[in-house]
Amino acid sequence: MTAATTPIVEAVDVEKTLGEGAGRVQALRGVSLALKGGELTLLMGPSGSGKTTLLSILGGMLTPTRGTVRLAGETTTGAGPETLARLRRTHVGFVFQSYHLFPTLTAIENVRLVLDVRGEHGEDAPERAAAALATVGLAHKHHAFPRELSGGEQQRVAIARAVVGRTAALFADEPTASLDGDNGRAIMTVLADIAKDPRRAVLVVTHDPRTLPFADRIVRIEDGRIVAEEAGAHAGPAPREPAPNESASPKSVSPKSVSPESVSPESVSPESASPESQGSPHAP
Ligand SMILES: Nc1ncnc2c1ncn2[C@@H]1O[C@H](COP(=O)(O)OP(=O)(O)OP(=O)(O)O)[C@@H](O)[C@H]1O
Ligand SMILES: [Mg+2]
Repeated sequence: MTAATTPIVEAVDVEKTLGEGAGRVQALRGVSLALKGGELTLLMGPSGSGKTTLLSILGGMLTPTRGTVRLAGETTTGAGPETLARLRRTHVGFVFQSYHLFPTLTAIENVRLVLDVRGEHGEDAPERAAAALATVGLAHKHHAFPRELSGGEQQRVAIARAVVGRTAALFADEPTASLDGDNGRAIMTVLADIAKDPRRAVLVVTHDPRTLPFADRIVRIEDGRIVAEEAGAHAGPAPREPAPNESASPKSVSPKSVSPESVSPESVSPESASPESQGSPHAP
């Protein structure tokens, strides 16, 4: 399933310093990583190791202090805010660690906003937004405001928003953190199905062992450096159901098939939800 093509996103020897004065932190210390189409990569590492910072840089929300990032063939190093906004809008879907839903918009309006920002005002826009919500199991919550949704439901709206635009790069920061077993697996199935497309790459930051069966590749980061890379359970032959006498270890879970192409996957984060506009890759 790995396409030997030009990477969709590529970081070369990236360093990132955050904060000022005594609060200065070198969050990334020479990271090189290429995300190819047709691959779902998991990024794992301790709290504070630089995962969100790396995702924000790969997704064009932050620019590196040193090194090069190429997104769909264009370099983001030294790019201005308008260029970055265009690159994100065109190529990137993002699920933020803390959702970043717009509180005054309903679930379906939060999803529709992505299509509006992309200039996709066609007749099928309402249908696409509805299909994206259906894929995450929220067909019955179109008109709910974020405050009327549980944490897991808000997380699923954020995922619908990330997939509705069918972007080449999809980044998700802890997308299963607030989800129970079934919903977590359903969401990972949506993301893994997107990554079957050789024109699309998915990177998931996670601590959740339930995501392991869906990975083509696992990248480990510690203290701002990539310390290990390994093939994921999903990289080999297709997952199989465990034999009756086999224990249900994460590797033996067989992702069940939800059809994501009933979705019009993708998503660009609304510009105003960009961490850059908040001066930090973190939630407010
Ligand atoms: N705006 C900022 N100013 C100063 N330091 C920051 C800023 N944002 C992040 N950091 C620091 O950079 C380092 C990497 O942070 P990052 O958010 O990328 O970690 P993470 O791996 O995503 O952690 P977690 O698993 O807790 O989400 C941490 O030491 C953090 O404190
Ligand atoms: Mg983080």
